[in-house]
Amino acid sequence: MRSIASAPGKVILFGEHFIVYGGKAILCSINKRITIESQLSNSDKIEIDSGLGTISVSKNEPLQNIDPVFKPVIYVAQKILQKFNSDSGLKISITSEIPAGVGLGSSSACCVAAASSISGLFSNYSKEEVLQLAIEAERTIFENVSGADSTVCTYGGIIEYSRDGKIKKLDFVPKFQLVVADSKIMHSTSQVVSKVKKFKDDNPQVFSMLCDKEASLIEETLGALKKNDLNTIGAKMNQNQAHLEKIGVSNDLLGSMLGTVNNVAYGAKMTGAGDGGCIIALVNDTNLDRVIGALRSKNYECFAAQIDTTGVEQKVKDSP
Ligand code: MEV
Repeated sequence: MRSIASAPGKVILFGEHFIVYGGKAILCSINKRITIESQLSNSDKIEIDSGLGTISVSKNEPLQNIDPVFKPVIYVAQKILQKFNSDSGLKISITSEIPAGVGLGSSSACCVAAASSISGLFSNYSKEEVLQLAIEAERTIFENVSGADSTVCTYGGIIEYSRDGKIKKLDFVPKFQLVVADSKIMHSTSQVVSKVKKFKDDNPQVFSMLCDKEASLIEETLGALKKNDLNTIGAKMNQNQAHLEKIGVSNDLLGSMLGTVNNVAYGAKMTGAGDGGCIIALVNDTNLDRVIGALRSKNYECFAAQIDTTGVEQKVKDSP
């Protein structure tokens, strides 16, 4: 038997970094997915084959000995094999359409798809159970993770996420798309989050003022989202970008990319941890081609992302 699960990548529309310290963020999942196929084996090993490399370890290998790239998936595998008292090993194969390390949720989607795929060999986990395990897995590499990314990769759509774990799916039909452009600079989310912590510790009043401003901005944006008021949403994205620049997570390249779409998109900002990664530009049918054209004329790699509405999906197939 093979259990196959896929989960979407994501972009953060509003609230990255500030969400780590409370408040809310607004995220949406996008139509690029990571797919994980798992099956039990007769060995005592957990074997992973992925675009980022391969690994084969004893199923009881202590987690601290595992390469960080594979740690979350090995964590999920060990946890589930133990929970169901399984004598088997596991073969896991990972394929991804989501570029890694550029803020599009590849690691969260991987944790979610792994939790769903591997649990599917034994039981029918609810999305809540999948999410809980995925967040535990993410914490093996980044202890202070807010859980926002895994949440939207699990449920899909556009969500309002609160740091206390409250989730509200925003049930409106979006009349916009996002153009995602990749700076090709990879980042480590935990390193950028540590950098923001240092900024916060060095500038407690400025940081607290920015948190308040971000919270008001998100409240104001929620109404605009429901009305598909692209001019207001775009203006709020530009304001959010200014907050992110103040805490030092944008950079010159992201600034130039944003400058490229400044006059053609409704609004734009970096998305995710920053210090590289991607920008997102708000568009609809009237300006999609112009935004893509402007970015490509400067040789920036970009694509139009549609909003995924399904979140994680899992099915079981007979082997082979
Ligand atoms: C990373 O995609 C989002 C951050 O806010 C970290 C987190 O929410 O855990 C930077």
